[in-house]
Amino acid sequence: MKVAVFSVKRYDRVLLREANAAHGHALTFQEAMLGPETVPLAVGYPAVSVFVNDNMGADVLAALAAGGTQLIATRSTGFNHIDLDAAKACGLRVARVTDYSPFAVAEFAVGLILSLNRHIHRAYDRTRNGNFELEGLMGFDLHGRTVGVIGTGKIGRTFAHIMAGFGMRVLGMDAYPSPDFTALGGRYVDLAELMAESDVVSLHCPLTPATRHIIGETSLAAAKPGQLLVNTSRGGLIDTAAAIEALKDRRLGGLAIDVYEQEADLFFRDLSSDIIEDDTIQRLVSFPNVLLTGHQAFFTRDAMFTICRTTIENITAFERGEPLVNEVPT
Ligand code: NAI
Repeated sequence: MKVAVFSVKRYDRVLLREANAAHGHALTFQEAMLGPETVPLAVGYPAVSVFVNDNMGADVLAALAAGGTQLIATRSTGFNHIDLDAAKACGLRVARVTDYSPFAVAEFAVGLILSLNRHIHRAYDRTRNGNFELEGLMGFDLHGRTVGVIGTGKIGRTFAHIMAGFGMRVLGMDAYPSPDFTALGGRYVDLAELMAESDVVSLHCPLTPATRHIIGETSLAAAKPGQLLVNTSRGGLIDTAAAIEALKDRRLGGLAIDVYEQEADLFFRDLSSDIIEDDTIQRLVSFPNVLLTGHQAFFTRDAMFTICRTTIENITAFERGEPLVNEVPT
């Protein structure tokens, strides 16, 4: 099947070619993101593969359908970038990578917590400049403290399991509580209690209308003073302006984000020689207690291998008319 693959980096190209070897699809790689200006590149391709920041709004989906596309194969777990109602209206089917490596994201979240709490990123900079001063680098023991997990699905539970191993008390909040979370010692509470009790909060729920800005003025007002907040899920879960105010008020003790509400204009490219016009992200990086990474939590060899293999398998299943096990219901 002819597949137009958007937002392709060198590593995607290598691993997708490898995964495709036994499937024989005709892959056309585009470095460009898919959006209104680039959608003509997909004309005549029955399948299109996209990534997290491609613009899959109603106009783009309508143009894809008009150009003969029938399947969107996103190389991600999250599908908040795809307007599912519009996809349904255009008769487009959507497949994702339901499960690639909860460990990749959960382990990265733990890495962010350790670095944020113990200021490892700052120590790295200091020692390279010959500064061995400890002032400003004091953290706290995680052991015996409380971690709150918002979204106790595959990644949230994997994360909770690791944090329980650190000797932390684990609280959870989920619209659909899981007995597996309780079995590993977690206790479900409501959002206000989770915020008030937790020394560390980590976000692992999807971005939906119900979870957009789940961390905002109200939830931050309830936060335990000095709390560390970590987001490896989706930028829109946090009201960034409210988080900045909470950092300025010293209510938040630190913020580590791998995802950012306006990341589509910034992430996955080298802008080091450009002037960044997003004042919010510039304000965020000016805080000594903010740690920002560019949506890399998924980025392990193991996860990438599975993402590419599953994407190709999704396309093959669609081509053969077999059940699309990773279909996103529209
Ligand atoms: P999952 O579907 O296994 O778990 C999501 C959990 O969130 C479920 O338990 C669900 O009940 C819960 N949830 C849904 N609505 C909720 C609400 N209103 N309030 C509280 N909880 C709610 O998904 P998985 O695999 O654990 O992934 C979680 C998220 O992680 C994805 O949606 C994606 O946004 C993000 N992600 C980020 C990556 C990165 O590289 N930074 C990579 C992969 C996923």
